[in-house]
Amino acid sequence: MNKKDFPIFKNTKFYGKNLVYLDNAATTQKPQIVIDEFSRFYENFNANVYRGIYRLSEEATSMYEGVREKSAKFINAKSNEIVFTRNTTESLNLVVYTFAKSILKKTDTVLLSLMEHHSNIVPWQILQKEIGFSIKYIDINKENFSLENVDSLLEIKPKIISLTYISNVLGTRNDIKDIVKKARKINAFVIVDAAQAAPHIQIDVKSLDCDFLTFSAHKMLGPTGVGILYGKEELLDKMPPLLGGGEMIISVDKNKSVYKNAPFKFEAGTVNFADTIVFGKSIDYINKVGMNKISLYIKELSFYLYENLVKINGIKIYGAKNDFGIYSFSIKNIHPHDIATFLDEENIAIRAGHHCAQPLMKELSVYALSRISLYFYNTQEDIDKVSLSLSKISDLF
Ligand code: ALA
Repeated sequence: MNKKDFPIFKNTKFYGKNLVYLDNAATTQKPQIVIDEFSRFYENFNANVYRGIYRLSEEATSMYEGVREKSAKFINAKSNEIVFTRNTTESLNLVVYTFAKSILKKTDTVLLSLMEHHSNIVPWQILQKEIGFSIKYIDINKENFSLENVDSLLEIKPKIISLTYISNVLGTRNDIKDIVKKARKINAFVIVDAAQAAPHIQIDVKSLDCDFLTFSAHKMLGPTGVGILYGKEELLDKMPPLLGGGEMIISVDKNKSVYKNAPFKFEAGTVNFADTIVFGKSIDYINKVGMNKISLYIKELSFYLYENLVKINGIKIYGAKNDFGIYSFSIKNIHPHDIATFLDEENIAIRAGHHCAQPLMKELSVYALSRISLYFYNTQEDIDKVSLSLSKISDLF
């Protein structure tokens, strides 16, 4: 769908072959309209935001704030509930070192799951060294790869639950709405890593009722270096800033400073205004295609991929048939990296490794896996190509 809008598929021919790009959970390709926005901005509107008492800076500021509004609308939040960061990792770190740090005590528990990305594990471990709280992990059902025994872990009464919405390895979608409902009964806060969800499903933070939610622009057709952090207004207001510096203050004297309100107190220094403004075009593009249409198209393609993958000799898929086209797998007697290298010779790009989820890899008793992940510019032809290549590889061993 819409592949012609993405110039990389016309331009890039390695080994004399057209690109088949199947590493979309890592980053997505960019449509021409997004690429052109870089030139449009730099050629016409470049000036530092907030600082300039002149028209050019005011234009840039209003474009930057326009994208805050668009991002808010995209997930049904209010503008002042959107903080721009560098990526999902930075958003999660910000929440851990400000919000979590100000409420956690030694006797508290933070609940994560075994399918978390390192960015939702390591910051907690760093803070744990300082405060000494417990970290517990929700198990994974090895049959259907869903979260297991959530209710019994909630009996521990964790103070914070921080979970991925859609796993970057398994393609599992967690029932965040239900978990938030349960969390409310025990007064726990819920943080959602939506890095893989935001490109695939319509997110409504009001209906989910989560406290924080994070995602990244580059995984949804936008530039790198732009992360989005949603936080409930009343929580952001109370949180201290993480970084201090220019533009996040109302006043500074020798002994103390007065901070601006959220979200500005969290955006110290010159912000990544150019990339953020370009991200606005990605949201426009996705809205124009329509998230429902995107979800339905990928679901169909995902099922087609699954049916093809299960036919490959010696394959083991780590994850259930899912709607998002995210499948991690191994093939008997072949190292996951070798699979990626063989496919590369056909100019087919997939990811292989631990996918920044080493606790999950250990749980699945593997070191590494190969992974295919789709987006809506992928086609049945792409899947036919990768399936044929995988069959050839599996027959070699
Ligand atoms: N988290 C990204 C992935 O799963 C980079 O590939």
